Amino acid sequence: MAPIQVKKVCCIGAGYVGGPTCAVIALKCPQIQVTIVDLNQARIDAWNSPDFELPIYEPGLADVVKATRGKNLFFSSDVDRGIQEADLIFVSVNTPTKKSGVGAGFGADLHYVESATRRIAAVASSSKIVVEKSTVPCRTAESMRTILEANCKPGCRFDILSNPEFLAEGTAISDLFNPDRVLIGSLQTQEGKDACAALASVYANWVPKERILTVGLWSSELSKLAANAMLAQRISSINALSAICEATGANIDEVAHAVGYDSRVGPKFLRASVGFGGSCFQKDILNLVYLSESLHLPEVAAYWRQVVELNEYQKRRFSKIVVDALFNTITGKHIAVLGFAFKADTGDTRESPAISLIRDFLAERAYITVYDPKVEEAQIWMDLSEACPHLTLDQIKRQVTIVHSALEACKSKEAIVIATEWKEFREIDWQTVYNNMTKPAFVFDGRLLVDADKLRRIGFKVKVIGRGEVL
Ligand SMILES: NC(=O)c1ccc[n+]([C@@H]2O[C@H](COP(=O)([O-])OP(=O)(O)OC[C@H]3O[C@@H](n4cnc5c(N)ncnc54)[C@H](O)[C@@H]3O)[C@@H](O)[C@H]2O)c1
Repeated sequence: MAPIQVKKVCCIGAGYVGGPTCAVIALKCPQIQVTIVDLNQARIDAWNSPDFELPIYEPGLADVVKATRGKNLFFSSDVDRGIQEADLIFVSVNTPTKKSGVGAGFGADLHYVESATRRIAAVASSSKIVVEKSTVPCRTAESMRTILEANCKPGCRFDILSNPEFLAEGTAISDLFNPDRVLIGSLQTQEGKDACAALASVYANWVPKERILTVGLWSSELSKLAANAMLAQRISSINALSAICEATGANIDEVAHAVGYDSRVGPKFLRASVGFGGSCFQKDILNLVYLSESLHLPEVAAYWRQVVELNEYQKRRFSKIVVDALFNTITGKHIAVLGFAFKADTGDTRESPAISLIRDFLAERAYITVYDPKVEEAQIWMDLSEACPHLTLDQIKRQVTIVHSALEACKSKEAIVIATEWKEFREIDWQTVYNNMTKPAFVFDGRLLVDADKLRRIGFKVKVIGRGEVL
């Protein structure tokens, strides 16, 4: 049989994954027409905005969209048409942690995946390859197949593939241009293998063949959870060691450097911080915990749960470092929080450590001024309202101010807390900042970002995560 040629791709979900991933497919495969659809009209309008004010900030993304939009890349809220026209459909909808019901707080909420799948079954009038791009619990593809087969029209067949996305926000475009690997899982039937070959041929337009890994469906689904769990585990491991450094006078940078030199460990992802955030690590580990519990593997569940618990501990620990250093009270004090995104080079705030820190400072009745180069004001208010359900937005606004530059944020404050590793914070005119602050002027670096010795020479009192110096 001749290999299946993919000519039209549809992506359901125009978010942080669907948007960049399919924009890059359009760029690298000019022969393929790519349509990205979403129910959220405002998001689609932003993707189509004439001045390329895209709904997500990602370095290099606007250039990819500029090169392809209106040629072979389209954004639309007409989900049904996108489905009907495509021969390959990515399902790239959100899979947040369940907030209520069975598995609340751990399991993945799969209702977006299910409703997208039901829509495909209801609308498709020809055979499709359906690709699970969202991160899902192991064996979700089986549920998708059951729904599709039970609802499909005569003559339509659906082949399900798992193709988890490994991009990291902030480096999404370079990750997509040059991925460590592309993983495709399929049923090991002839039809499954043919569908897998069709998707592999799309990626082969720019990804070297040896980096396109083909495996069974369930291995593919589990590999995504496993990769995120291992990455987050490295952060929690180094953060656990950062607490020991602070108590002993050791320096976490030196420890990480020494440990990372071991070729069996490697140097990446060993940077101590105020804690990891983002939409994936916590959610995916909790998902793995839930899966382990469902499989009656309580010790395995407890092992992975500890990675998340350590992260919570690290955030609490950093808030306490601030309070302790500011003479055991921050009530009525003025603190600048630099950074609100969960990491640099993204405007994404999901699970951002900055939210936990500000929530703790609010509980201590401090006044907080926030500056982030990319996060929208409305997003900050929404996140803080959600994090502090016992406060009204008016009450929050009495204690929190949002400003538009780091210098403005720091003016007349008693302390600066660095919550996100934006490069511009390293390059602030620290002498001017110092001159304009209330003394003693404190800097709390939760991201190992600043040159602490230089700041100390200016006169700041500096506390850096994972360094044993006493103030
Ligand atoms: N964000 C990341 O860094 C990242 C990395 C790898 C994998 N993932 C996974 O990819 C998936 C998507 O993540 P994201 O960050 O892009 O989420 P997101 O919330 O940014 O985007 C999901 C989009 O899907 C849309 N949607 C939901 N249901 C729909 C439906 N039935 N029809 C049409 N549109 C629908 C939503 O409106 C939303 O715009 C998740 O499973 C996530 O775990 C995320």
